[in-house]
Amino acid sequence: MTQSIEKSLLQNFQEYFGESDQPVRLFFAPGRVNLIGEHTDYNGGYVFPAAITLGTYMAVRKRNDSKYVMKSDNFPGNQVEIDQSLIVNDPNDDWGNYPKGIIKELLELGVPLAGADLLYHGNLPNGAGLSSSASIGMVTAYGLSQLVDFSISTKELAFLCQRMENRFIGVNTGIMDQTAVGFGKANQAILLNCKSFELEMIPLNLGDYKIVITNTNKRRGLADSKYNERRQECEKGLAELQQVKAGLTCLGDLSLELFEELEGTIKEPLIKKRVRHVVTEDNRVLLAAQYLKEDQLEAFGQLMIASHLSLRDDYEVTGAELDALFESQKAAPGCIGTRMTGAGFGGCTVSLVNSNQLDAFEQQVQEAYFNRTGLTPTFYMCEAGPGVLELEKQSN
Ligand code: GLA
Repeated sequence: MTQSIEKSLLQNFQEYFGESDQPVRLFFAPGRVNLIGEHTDYNGGYVFPAAITLGTYMAVRKRNDSKYVMKSDNFPGNQVEIDQSLIVNDPNDDWGNYPKGIIKELLELGVPLAGADLLYHGNLPNGAGLSSSASIGMVTAYGLSQLVDFSISTKELAFLCQRMENRFIGVNTGIMDQTAVGFGKANQAILLNCKSFELEMIPLNLGDYKIVITNTNKRRGLADSKYNERRQECEKGLAELQQVKAGLTCLGDLSLELFEELEGTIKEPLIKKRVRHVVTEDNRVLLAAQYLKEDQLEAFGQLMIASHLSLRDDYEVTGAELDALFESQKAAPGCIGTRMTGAGFGGCTVSLVNSNQLDAFEQQVQEAYFNRTGLTPTFYMCEAGPGVLELEKQSN
């Protein structure tokens, strides 16, 4: 599968861009699935994602000028062309704005970039909560810096990609996605403290269970503005709590006990709910990591369910389709845990399903979800895989 993607990407590259004396190099960055810990990253809390084996492939070759010509196999009609001297966000460029923003960030960092021809191929569903944007961002940042032998740490790359999304795209994302895409390892999940940036890799020993990702196939309309709105609500809650608790730097500093002691000082019920989600979710992440280490998968699954309910009731980022999928999956054979993953408002769920019951699970979910919504879900069986890399180097 991967081999054939690489082969056709190289063929298409030659076809689009023709011959040159410069070598074509191939890079890959995964998407990610977040197992638990949603909307905690920008609050200095914990998250628990894993990189997945689906992602974005990029073939790239230096040019002899300062231009970047970008194409994507996924959007064949669309070519994006820019010069280093003028890089601005243009809604007509759609996906092309991500690499454009990365080029701008790399130049601002002082990376001596050369112009390049770039061809992308993605096998992640776009805008479905599996980090297609961090994936294209990280593959571009890593590939272009490698092209000019500029050494940059994975952590720096992750923060650069986050800055791109915040400043160039205008979505105030946290650091979870870029970190998972950068630091992923096969069969491991990443426990990240988003305040200190401490990382712990935890083996994903799932025994008889498999991670199943299911796409609601509902596009995440309005997701970006709702996302920014949630961030503001959390900032409001924090500001109120800081009035009564000196030294509080983020909601991630709050233990459950401290929150219960102080929650009465938050005036608006809506803001209180938002803060409650963040604090209880943070608590669930640490417990989940512990359960995984102790092979207590059913307890892990229960936390996933509690996480979804909190995202539905307190944080209000699920919506009809995600809730319908959640209910369908919770009741399906072999499923011990399920929840929405990513920002929400549509996109995907992540479930833990007994590997002997995968077919029955899919069949029942498909039927129940269709009856509830009239939509057909898509299932992805994928493994936890490596973070951003150059492909030839992988086989050495
Ligand atoms: C998006 C953002 C992340 C994170 C999640 C919600 O994926 O990019 O930073 O906030 O939503 O957990």
